[in-house]
Amino acid sequence: MAERLRVHVDPDKCQGHARCKALAPELFELDEYGNAHEAGDGVVPPGLEDKAWLAKSNCPEIAIDVIEE
Ligand code: F3S
Repeated sequence: MAERLRVHVDPDKCQGHARCKALAPELFELDEYGNAHEAGDGVVPPGLEDKAWLAKSNCPEIAIDVIEE
């Protein structure tokens, strides 16, 4: 069975670069200050796994965790 991924943004590290939102708009939302948080409960829908890893690797603040469940 394929593993399930979950994304999480560390609000203490996020500085609002928004690259996560640009690369994986399905997985992240921005608040009124431009800081990101994971959409919903952070579970990555099937097919969007690559976007989750891409967002993680492109966050300049290393604020995104991808958790394998
Ligand atoms: Fe924040 Fe990184 Fe996204 S700094 S807005 S989690 S690219």
